Amino acid sequence: MKAFSLLSICVVIVLANSHIDAFTRNDFPEDFLFGAGTSAYQWEGAVDEDGRTPSVWDGFSPFDNMDNGDIACDGYHKYKKDVKLMAEMGLEAFRFSISWSRLIPNGRGPINPKGLQFYKNLIKELLTHGIEPHLTLYHYDLPQALEDEYGGWINHKIIEDFTAFADVCFREFGDDVKLWTTINEANIFAIGAYSEGILPPGHCSTSSSRYVKCSTGNSSTEPYIVGHNILLAHASASNLYRLKYKSKQRGSIGLCIYTYGLFPYTNSKEDEVATQRAKDFYFGWLLKPLVFGDYPDVMKRVVGTRLPVFSEEESEQVRGSSDFIGVIHYTTLYVTESKPSPSILPSNQDFSTDMGVETISIGNTVPWGFEGVLEYLKQSFNNPPIYILENGFATKHDSTLQDTARVEYIQSYIGAMLNAIRNGSDTRGYFYWSMIDLYELLAGYRVSFGLYYVNFSDDGLKRSPKLSASWYTGFLNGTVDVSPLDITQQQSHFSGSSSL
Ligand SMILES: *[C@@H]1O[C@H](CO)[C@@H](O)[C@H](O)[C@H]1NC(C)=O
Ligand SMILES: *[C@@H]1O[C@H](CO)[C@@H](O)[C@H](O)[C@H]1NC(C)=O
Ligand SMILES: *[C@@H]1O[C@H](CO)[C@@H](O)[C@H](O)[C@H]1NC(C)=O
Ligand SMILES: *[C@@H]1O[C@H](CO)[C@@H](O)[C@H](O)[C@H]1NC(C)=O
Repeated sequence: MKAFSLLSICVVIVLANSHIDAFTRNDFPEDFLFGAGTSAYQWEGAVDEDGRTPSVWDGFSPFDNMDNGDIACDGYHKYKKDVKLMAEMGLEAFRFSISWSRLIPNGRGPINPKGLQFYKNLIKELLTHGIEPHLTLYHYDLPQALEDEYGGWINHKIIEDFTAFADVCFREFGDDVKLWTTINEANIFAIGAYSEGILPPGHCSTSSSRYVKCSTGNSSTEPYIVGHNILLAHASASNLYRLKYKSKQRGSIGLCIYTYGLFPYTNSKEDEVATQRAKDFYFGWLLKPLVFGDYPDVMKRVVGTRLPVFSEEESEQVRGSSDFIGVIHYTTLYVTESKPSPSILPSNQDFSTDMGVETISIGNTVPWGFEGVLEYLKQSFNNPPIYILENGFATKHDSTLQDTARVEYIQSYIGAMLNAIRNGSDTRGYFYWSMIDLYELLAGYRVSFGLYYVNFSDDGLKRSPKLSASWYTGFLNGTVDVSPLDITQQQSHFSGSSSL
């Protein structure tokens, strides 16, 4: 999922110099994993079959013409076919998520046997084809029952219910699944759902969001409360895994964040400081507690009493609770200091006004920005193990199978990742988003990232490989060499907002 639309400014800039040498699959370590991903609500469909109950995404539609994931790719019924496509494509790994309300329909309590069977079947099918599963526990789709009962992630009670859900998954799937992500793009989830109101449950202050009108919420406080609960829920599940399962199952478990490449717009001191502040808000907010046990100083200073405080015990639990960092990356932004504005009233405060920067998109394909993200993570957070859990290129959904721009994007981003690895980044896997065209959370069926085209008008939801799928196959089977790429752009002209 690509995040928000961006400020619209025209820029002409000389960009940094960077280069990617020729490379092949064999330049990566043998145990490096190349895969692709989907998520439950976006791929499965079958929303009211076999005992599944609604999640907060069912029926949520912040923008017009959003459609829904009622059928999506019908992965629930077509999983065998899709695993076969993955195997033909040569995927080494597949990232997917569990629909919590399919496995445990009331959010807690009895397991739904048919839901359980579906995930066991899917995992078995993957393993039979030699494809390593990477399982995300939570990808935006809280059981509606828990939202209705106590407000979901805004309430401390979520920690216990999330941990119990994770416990079921570790117990039932953990003999076969070795790679676990607790919560998908946790920072953008908290911001999008509780500051901007564009993700369910759609909370924001009435006067705050640039995008939608919310009927409830408080953008100045809720994103931080939810961020705190996310960290505690992640840590609780992760610590449970270590205590109860890890010695036997030998898997690893991580939290996933959304990352922008962030670079100062000019070489002024102000823009440099603003860029560091944006990094502290986007990356440090969740990663600094995970690695060092507390929030960044600049956030404590700016957000003040609205930022929850870790007790010593909580800090202990959270610090070191991620075996790896899951990274989602699509875009790179220039950052500039916000224009001085009349002091912001408390009723207008939100995550974005707290961060206090303006951002300018550089364009769609900025591989050196991705390299910069991996370099920053390496240098600022003790070189954590990293899995790239999403990276991909959006196009308008149509039947064009010759997606050469997508092929160019993937080549250059994989090349940029290789540069970072050669300079010491501990990146261990790359999952292209998405394996197949699916229901995009903020764009419905209008925009696609898939390696496979899906004809959503066709009763059988026919799948057809795009050029990018066969490029990936060739890269993975070692018959495609990527030529040296010059990723220097002398000039970048940008105007308008991103396509989502
Ligand atoms: C949000 O919460 C803060 C702190 O409790 C309060 O001062 C502010 O008035 C609330 N804002 C809205 C829009 O309810
Ligand atoms: C490579 O890593 C070193 C050490 O972390 C760092 O100083 C240097 O800037 C990195 N080079 C690039 C091109 O990012
Ligand atoms: C999609 O399916 C519809 C209905 O079967 C068919 O009429 C149409 O030609 C298909 N489109 C493509 C691009 O194959
Ligand atoms: C490698 O993949 C390409 C598709 O890009 C395919 O044509 C070729 O047959 C594959 N070769 C092997 C040895 O699997």
